[in-house]
Amino acid sequence: MILTVEKINTFYGDSHILFDVDLTIAEGEVVSLLGRNGAGKTTTLRSIMGLTPPREGSVRWLGEEVQRLKPHQIARKGLGFVPEDRRIFSRLSVEENLEIGAFKLERASGWTLERIYGLFPKLEQLKAHKGDQLSGGEQQMLAIARALMGTPKLVLLDEPSEGLAPAIVKDVGEMIGTLQDEGIAVLLVEQNTRFACRLSDRVYIIDNGRVRFGGTVAELEADEELKSRYLAV
Ligand SMILES: Nc1ncnc2c1ncn2[C@@H]1O[C@H](COP(=O)(O)OP(=O)(O)OP(=O)(O)O)[C@@H](O)[C@H]1O
Ligand SMILES: [Mg+2]
Repeated sequence: MILTVEKINTFYGDSHILFDVDLTIAEGEVVSLLGRNGAGKTTTLRSIMGLTPPREGSVRWLGEEVQRLKPHQIARKGLGFVPEDRRIFSRLSVEENLEIGAFKLERASGWTLERIYGLFPKLEQLKAHKGDQLSGGEQQMLAIARALMGTPKLVLLDEPSEGLAPAIVKDVGEMIGTLQDEGIAVLLVEQNTRFACRLSDRVYIIDNGRVRFGGTVAELEADEELKSRYLAV
């Protein structure tokens, strides 16, 4: 496993949000974390990235405990994070936004603009456009590509399909497929169960801050009761 989250308990102030959350990701795997509004999905990602460090439990990344490191230290070890609001700089061009994603790496073989443009030609066409001239789908693509500029081995995506038209959701799905083809693992947080299941090797369900299910997509799809209990809108 490249990532092993073990019995993490995370709080906002006095509010206990995550309870003994366990989760693993193998090299190159696409894993989804599903659950309703307020279930604890974003908090799980924030716990892994050190943005809201867990008070108890461990986050092991490439064999090393990282739960006491700062977010930028964790990112530099090869963990990319695309937050729900995407954080595109509106006054900067697409290319400048991408350049901001590159930083001095602990590991060799970085991604370059040429490689990003080769995989996502749409971004090259848009490279001079400012962040605020992009559609929601273009911003999402840029946010994912910017995370790639940090040469991650795992990218955490927080609800990338949210607010996008179905045709654009398909593009984002293809982009996630490209990451997997490049050997990059993905932890995909979603409320769009169908979209997530189509892309994933394995799935977790979180509800009220506890992991209620971990298994294959086929196991989840066969379990109507599980789906209606934890994933119904
Ligand atoms: N900054 C915060 N301070 C206090 N409580 C918070 C904070 N952020 C989130 N919470 C609470 O923590 C719980 C889990 O929130 P979280 O954002 O992890 O859920 P989520 O599964 O990502 O939901 P959504 O699908 O709405 O994004 C919720 O009850 C939420 O109200
Ligand atoms: Mg969230």
